[in-house]
Amino acid sequence: MSTSDRVELRLTLLNAAIFAVVLTTFAVCVFAVVVDRLNQDTKSDLRQLADAVIASIDFDEDLSRNPASAKPDLIASAMPDSSAKLLNTLKLQWFNYNGKLDVEKGSFFIGSDLRTEEGFQLQKQPRGMIFTKPVSDGGKLLGYVRVAQPLDKLDRTVADLTLGLVLGTVAALFVSGAGVFLIVRQSILPLRRNMQLLRQFTCDASHELRSPITAIRSNSNVALKYAAGMRAGDKEKFEMIDNAGSQMQRLVEGLLVLSQADKPLYQSSPVNLHDVVQEAYRNVAPLAKLKDIDISLDISLDLQVLICPDDLRRIVTNLLENAVRYSDAGGKVIVRTETAKGYVVIKVEDTGVGIATEDLDKVFDRFWRADKTRTNHSDGQGLGLAITKALVQRHGGSISLKSEIGKGSTLTVFLRSAPVAQPLS
Ligand SMILES: Nc1ncnc2c1ncn2[C@@H]1O[C@H](COP(=O)(O)OP(=O)(O)OP(=O)(O)O)[C@@H](O)[C@H]1O
Ligand SMILES: [Mg+2]
Repeated sequence: MSTSDRVELRLTLLNAAIFAVVLTTFAVCVFAVVVDRLNQDTKSDLRQLADAVIASIDFDEDLSRNPASAKPDLIASAMPDSSAKLLNTLKLQWFNYNGKLDVEKGSFFIGSDLRTEEGFQLQKQPRGMIFTKPVSDGGKLLGYVRVAQPLDKLDRTVADLTLGLVLGTVAALFVSGAGVFLIVRQSILPLRRNMQLLRQFTCDASHELRSPITAIRSNSNVALKYAAGMRAGDKEKFEMIDNAGSQMQRLVEGLLVLSQADKPLYQSSPVNLHDVVQEAYRNVAPLAKLKDIDISLDISLDLQVLICPDDLRRIVTNLLENAVRYSDAGGKVIVRTETAKGYVVIKVEDTGVGIATEDLDKVFDRFWRADKTRTNHSDGQGLGLAITKALVQRHGGSISLKSEIGKGSTLTVFLRSAPVAQPLS
């Protein structure tokens, strides 16, 4: 995946996540408001019904406002027309001042326990809303009106609302996700174009710089070959030119590889890891010997990696070179290989200077180098690990780093293993 692909994916996911949060918050708010409104309406209906029932009760004056004289027929006729039709689904009850049920209408079942204070109750089975209101006259308690209504209709409305909101949110998420994807794709086009131009420029410039640098180096090499008749100062100058030329050559080659690492891959073939590690070892061995660093190889003979041979060579050499370069005299470097779930694992461990925890995520950045006073190395461009990571990712692998300052580092690379050819039986 190229850098611009990664930026595009990250922006799309970020925008989609923001949309998801906004839409979900909106849906939850709509749900809360509508359900609250429905509950309020139910309560207000019940309150009105209770008031209508109370207003309709005809008390017998002669019986000193005897609550027992409440007339059931009037209770029924007190209901509004629309509610009267629903009598079967409601419940109206009159309790006397002792809490004894005197009269009731409607078929909705509610428990017999009477709450004596005014208020609403939620009944679980069957689900319903109950409203109780004490009735008194001149401070004298006459009885209680209790009205109740099943909540199945309200529950159905809430279920429909939930379904509508969930489906609506999901549909809106899909539509907004597609929109976000298109917008991000459009807005990232200039970035893609600029990156492509930059890559092309880096590639062309590195390519063009190779010949003059090679010319400088070959001339300085020739001059150094015949340094016998030269003044000491001149020889030193030619050595400096050669040194600088060598650094520039590495830098230019590094930039060339990096500029091409994002390009789609055309050829990868099974490459024997053992052979490549041996080759890298031979390249690094002189430096290791010079620094008195012991390199040991613990590698299987038959592991095959699916990769371009040059890329694998660069990956292993960079890791091994770093392990030797950032270790002090007497240090140890171990290269191990193993397999894990379709991948070949290459581990390069050293007992070198290590990397500070806060720098661990910077080491793969281009041109990043640790503090010179700590690593004690001034050569190097800070491109090796950036190139290694780009090449590893180009071949569908991954790289990780563990390090402790003063103790050493372990770089682990996962690369796709090539399927082993089965012998013909
Ligand atoms: N094995 C290691 N132990 C300690 N520090 C390391 C190790 N490998 C890398 N580093 C640190 O990470 C930095 C970046 O490494 P990288 O290989 O990218 O560049 P470099 O070695 O400085 O130069 P070059 O481009 O020649 O490889 C190094 O400068 C060094 O500070
Ligand atoms: Mg390096």
